[in-house]
Amino acid sequence: MRLDQYLSTSTALSRKEAKKAISQGRVSVEGVSARSANLQVATDANVELDGSALRLPGEVYLMMNKPDGVISATSDSSQPTAVDLLPSSLASKVHIAGRLDKDTTGLLLLTSDGRWSHQVTSPRRDCPKTYQVQLAEPLGSKAKVQLETGVVLKDEDKPTLPASVVECSETVIELTIKEGRYHQVKRMLAAVGNHVTGLHRLRIGTITLDPALAPGQYRELTENEIRSIAERA
Ligand code: URA
Repeated sequence: MRLDQYLSTSTALSRKEAKKAISQGRVSVEGVSARSANLQVATDANVELDGSALRLPGEVYLMMNKPDGVISATSDSSQPTAVDLLPSSLASKVHIAGRLDKDTTGLLLLTSDGRWSHQVTSPRRDCPKTYQVQLAEPLGSKAKVQLETGVVLKDEDKPTLPASVVECSETVIELTIKEGRYHQVKRMLAAVGNHVTGLHRLRIGTITLDPALAPGQYRELTENEIRSIAERA
């Protein structure tokens, strides 16, 4: 679609005001200043006004309190999935932005916007994820320092990035990591000689699991929550 149309559809600007904003150099497409109102842009292009990313209406952004026992997939022939918990009108549109293990509960983000979910999951974006971790054994100060410094996971060479650890009780910690390696939290605790007996995701970036959501429930993200991910870019 034309750039001025993209702007007037995604903001409160009239077509005339959109043209003016473009001629004033306030608009960029894929990071490059765009001065032509009739520039053709793809619907999934990265268009910014005054440095803020714009979004066309119609995209879906949800948070779910993932229950135990469902897998993080859009569909599966034999197991219940998180997307099965949505009405079909939403289920047909969304994918999962950052999977959880079948036995992990808590914050799951689902969206139709591939560019947005990339910002959640891309290793280069460093988007922090906070987990409440129930441990089999008390953590101990040596293991805490190891997690905070970085540990080498089984069958890997490169240590994990420094993590943040908050001790809630002897056997419950809040662990914040900036990567998303396979079973990362469970493997980090195994690397320091412990074992995870329960795992619950509390936060992604600054988006916190809504305490009003019972397991299996979902709600739309607020405008601020949606923007908080884009603004980290
Ligand atoms: N780390 C894990 O080990 N499992 C998850 O589900 C998420 C992070």
